[in-house]
Formats: sequence, C-alpha cells, structure tokens
Amino acid sequence: MTEVPVPKDAVPAADDLVVLKDVNKHFGALHVLQDINLSIGRGEVVVVIGPSGSGKSTLCRAVNRLETIDSGLITIDGKPLPQEGKELARLRADVGMVFQSFNLFAHKTVLENVTLGQVKVRKAGKKAAEERARSLLDRVGVGSQADKYPAQLSGGQQQRVAIARALAMEPKVMLFDEPTSALDPEMINEVLEVMQQLARDGMTMVVVTHEMGFARSAANRVVFMADGRIVEQATPDQFFSNPRSDRAKDFLSKILHH
Ligand SMILES: Nc1ncnc2c1ncn2[C@@H]1O[C@H](COP(=O)(O)OP(=O)(O)OP(=O)(O)O)[C@@H](O)[C@H]1O
Ligand SMILES: [Mg+2]
Repeated sequence: MTEVPVPKDAVPAADDLVVLKDVNKHFGALHVLQDINLSIGRGEVVVVIGPSGSGKSTLCRAVNRLETIDSGLITIDGKPLPQEGKELARLRADVGMVFQSFNLFAHKTVLENVTLGQVKVRKAGKKAAEERARSLLDRVGVGSQADKYPAQLSGGQQQRVAIARALAMEPKVMLFDEPTSALDPEMINEVLEVMQQLARDGMTMVVVTHEMGFARSAANRVVFMADGRIVEQATPDQFFSNPRSDRAKDFLSKILHH
C-alpha cells in the first residue's frame, strides 16, 4: 500500500471518542451523507445544524447504527461499530439516543422504562437498577412521576424520562435529535436545562437542534450541514458572528429572523 499524506487536521486525536472517517450513505439515488469526516472529543458538546433534509438525523442514526453506511468507518472509543447481536445492543447502550418523539414504552411505567435496559443489557440487579432509575429521575426533575405511565406525563416530562432512560445505561456519548421540536414552548426550557446540566457535567454530546440559545451557551463546536456534507464547523461565537459559507449565511438569516 502506498503512503498517502494525510492532512494534519484529518487525523483524530488519541482521545477522540466518536470518529467518522470518509462516511458515505445513499438512499437509492440520494447521496445523503457525503464524505463525512468528524471527530468528537471526550466531554465535547457538538451542535449539528442545517436545513431540512441535509442529513443530520441520518448522521446521528449512523453513529448508533440505526442506519448502515455504504463506505467509510465509524468508531466509538477506538472500536468500529459492531454489526449485530449482543455487541450491537451494548453499542446502543454506550451511545444513548434521544429522539424528537419520546419513544418511551407506552405499557411500562416511568420507573420500568428507566430500569429495563439496565437489567437486560447491562445485567444490573433489579434493586440496583431501580435505585439508579429513581436517582436519575430525581436528577431530571420527574422523581415524583415514577409510577405513572408515559401518556400521563407532559411532553417535557416524557422527554426528561427518555433522557434518564438513556443515562441509566451509563452511555459514553449522548445523541439528541431535535429533542425539543415536538414540545410546546413552555416545556422546551425544562428539557434544555437538563441538557445544559449534562453538558456541564462533562457528558460527550451530539445535539441536532434549532435552539440557537442552547448552541451558543452549551456547544463547544457547531457543525453546519447542507446537502449531505459538513459545510463548515466553528465555535458558536465564530459561527454565529461570522459564518463563512453562503449556505450558512443564508440558513442563519432564515432561522434568526423569523
Ligand atoms: N429511510 C429513508 N429512505 C429514503 N430516504 C430517506 C430515509 N431517511 C431519510 N431520507 C432522506 O434523506 C435525506 C436526509 O434526511 P435526514 O432525516 O437525515 O435529514 P435532516 O437533516 O435530519 O432533516 P430534518 O431537519 O427535516 O430533520 C432527506 O432527503 C430524506 O428525505
Ligand atoms: Mg432530522
């Protein structure tokens, strides 16, 4: 094999937790992820923004292997994503995911929702799992809802349960795909506050969101996607005050002045 010089900034740092290298993905003729290179350090909070259809959700789903990729490599903690079986279940526990729709188990109580995965995947004892679940539910401010069913909770409460459920698995990284877009305005902040606290506690996070206030205050880096590509990335300050690409300028003018 001939050695090809690699640009310095394309070499992931040794402590990068999530690394995507030359990742490509198609849906039929649509090239939805195009040569994606992205490295996320431990404790880093990356906000992904971009127009509808730019591939943000597909990117998140690929990291959790809810979508396969056509070429390239994704590693978590230095290991390529597993293909199937128990390894895959463990990956899904290592990579917590919170979706726009809360995706709680409707026929399980809040407590059961946060306990189940710990017992099944992490092989925790029931008592320890319940203790951990209660403490996490307290931490996200819904401790008093433990015995209710998801439908008896507000959207903001359900989303905080979903966060607690992911945290219960002791994930290495948390992915959030528009976690507040389905919420009524008065519930958005209670979810963002939980996420802010998580970021302050040092959790590694990838957050797809239109909440620019969150991006400004919590993100270490903003990644802007358009048409399946990472068009630019910068600190929130740099990105919001001085976007370089026309696509980003255009996008920001639309979302900041509506
Ligand atoms: N399962 C699928 N089959 C076919 N096409 C898909 C599938 N999932 C997504 N797409 C297409 O891939 C493109 C990227 O979708 P994706 O959901 O990743 O975009 P997004 O940036 O998350 O958009 P939004 O802001 O609307 O959530 C879109 O054109 C979408 O229609
Ligand atoms: Mg999406």
